[in-house]
Amino acid sequence: MAKLSGLKFPGGCQTLPEGFWSAVDVWVTKPHVVNKRVCGVKETGGENVDREALRFLLDDPELSRDVFSFLTGPAPPAQGHHQPWSATIRTIIPKVNCYGTSVQKEVVLRDRDRQRVTFLPFEEDAAGHACLRRANIYQIQTLELRALSPDAWFSDGVAYPKLTWLSTDLLPKLVRWASECKSGEFRSTLSLLPVEKYSLTYQQLKEKYKNLVKVWPEVTDPEKFVYEDVAIATYLLVLWAEERAEKRLAARQSFVDLGCGNGLLVHILTNEGHPGKGIDIRKRKIWDMYGPQTVLEEKAITPSESFLFPGTDWLIGNHSDELTPWIPVIAARRVISRHNLTQLLKCHLISSIRDNIMHM
Ligand SMILES: C[S@@+](CC[C@H](N)C(=O)[O-])C[C@H]1O[C@@H](n2cnc3c(N)ncnc32)[C@H](O)[C@@H]1O
Repeated sequence: MAKLSGLKFPGGCQTLPEGFWSAVDVWVTKPHVVNKRVCGVKETGGENVDREALRFLLDDPELSRDVFSFLTGPAPPAQGHHQPWSATIRTIIPKVNCYGTSVQKEVVLRDRDRQRVTFLPFEEDAAGHACLRRANIYQIQTLELRALSPDAWFSDGVAYPKLTWLSTDLLPKLVRWASECKSGEFRSTLSLLPVEKYSLTYQQLKEKYKNLVKVWPEVTDPEKFVYEDVAIATYLLVLWAEERAEKRLAARQSFVDLGCGNGLLVHILTNEGHPGKGIDIRKRKIWDMYGPQTVLEEKAITPSESFLFPGTDWLIGNHSDELTPWIPVIAARRVISRHNLTQLLKCHLISSIRDNIMHM
């Protein structure tokens, strides 16, 4: 076992050991916060395992001995009697599927007595056979990095980052998160969605709309705009599908994109079956390329009666400049007009007078 690098906490750090574990949780559950080639992970399981269970999992006496001494050495447990490891499995979902039908997983073993977490990477094939990547077993202890066989380490920058990246990029971040004890702040936008569905839909839509990059008539960077709008459309499509399933809705949600710019988001959402339109004060050349099914209007929006969009399910405003503060105003006016403000006030007034009378 080799210690690769270690960092010190700032003097007087008051957040240990909780800070260490909340920093580890960020790395385990949201690696995409630091590893941009990963879309997210799915963490499953959560049970205590002992030496016997690990021996069964590893299924090889020599390997079990090496892994076990890596897990337990060199520090003795803080208390005399060692608690079992708390084990979860995280499945890594890459942004671009570079592994074909095989799936990259890690058994994550948290050892609360020794203040360390160990990662045992597995590759699972389509038939469900898992193969341990022995060379990439590593461990983080408050706050040192160790690898079982650093000389044989394999790296592809996705599920298997470089060892130097783990020590020079990840470790300092873990120290910062641990000393600030901030894991709760990393509520990812993807936490609202099933990450696997997002990743799959994103890859399908990227493939479907990639040709737009070649014919982009605007002066803006096509790679940036096309893939960013594909990502936003993916997010909305998955979110809306979840909403329909949860509320048992048959009809696809309608939308209006306020300050739609190039209109690509409107085009993708319409193409994927959602009724809606985009409005912008300035028409773009690309609007004419989409075809008549993509509804785009050149108009100046104001937060007035004529722009309340009754009957539309979703108002979208992405980087919509001066429209940004108006969108919540438009949304609030829609709610108020739907429930009829005067009626509402009358009801409250009458019922509170009646309650007061009854209490007298
Ligand atoms: C930063 S761009 C964003 C465009 C697009 N939503 C996107 O994400 O690429 C802001 C857009 O809002 C439009 N806009 C600003 N004020 C507007 C208004 N009052 N009515 C209609 N469009 C407006 C601008 O013309 C511009 O296209």
